[in-house]
Amino acid sequence: EAYETITVERKGRAALLTLNRPQALNALNLQVMEDVVAAVEALDRDPGCGCIVITGSAKAFAAGADIKEMHPQGYLDMYLSDWFTAWDRLGQARTPTVAAVSGYALGGGCELAMLCDILIAADTAVFGQPEIKLGVIPGIGGSQRLTRAIGKAKAMDLCLTGRTMDAAEAERAGLVSRVVPADELLGEALAVAGTVAAMSLPTAMMAKEAVGRAFETTLAEGVRFERRLFHAVFATADQKEGMSAFIDKRPPDFHHR
Ligand code: HXC
Repeated sequence: EAYETITVERKGRAALLTLNRPQALNALNLQVMEDVVAAVEALDRDPGCGCIVITGSAKAFAAGADIKEMHPQGYLDMYLSDWFTAWDRLGQARTPTVAAVSGYALGGGCELAMLCDILIAADTAVFGQPEIKLGVIPGIGGSQRLTRAIGKAKAMDLCLTGRTMDAAEAERAGLVSRVVPADELLGEALAVAGTVAAMSLPTAMMAKEAVGRAFETTLAEGVRFERRLFHAVFATADQKEGMSAFIDKRPPDFHHR
């Protein structure tokens, strides 16, 4: 399928979605939102896809929402079009997602990365929520997801001063799970995606759902939710396969069912 602002390639059971608006450092305009959401939803419906990597260019994962597109809008324009709300559908994908971030991940770019499940950064990555410098605030969940990811101290610092943080600080703060040399970023992200995609897809979906629930509920409810899913995985053939493979001392061959 052809998209205007992104490319999508299949890599075995993984998929690679690359933002492709180099003239604007991958600024996220409405077309990019539409393309990314449509592509992710199509991959999410495909049981042949077990993990989706989202990446940008070496210089910019995405330098934010498109400032030129937003500049003329008024309150009613934003409210009636429900600006940015479609991005929520990315977070609702059940297939695991990996953000592979090189260069600028600012504003909406940082928020897009945080909408993904695993965040891998190149040592060149720069994260921030600099919206305040434009007289606005984060609008794709940044104030919430950044705070949950790195805590109040750094989230307030970043959102109020607009300063950026480098990959090392982002890793220390817990925003990203791994930092790799820039030229190894895509290889590492695709290897991670390949690993995830080789797991039982329904089990990976349930693992994702269970971890995600931690951000939405109390500990007691979350543990109850996990317990229900844990019991449910025993309905899959892949549970028998995974445990048989361990007992037989061989690698598992999951059939995603
Ligand atoms: C639209 C953008 C853009 C953006 C860059 N460009 N970021 N266009 N929206 N967010 C465009 C520039 O206008 C320029 O176009 C081209 O991309 C190259 O950018 P330069 O600025 O020339 O590159 P450089 O000097 O290397 O600086 C890179 C940069 C800078 C530091 C990342 O571009 C920058 O500060 N960008 C804005 C970052 C930001 O504030 N993001 C948050 C946006 S608000 P031309 O045509 O001049 O070549 C947001 C949240 C919205 O994301 C929520 C509130 C509603």
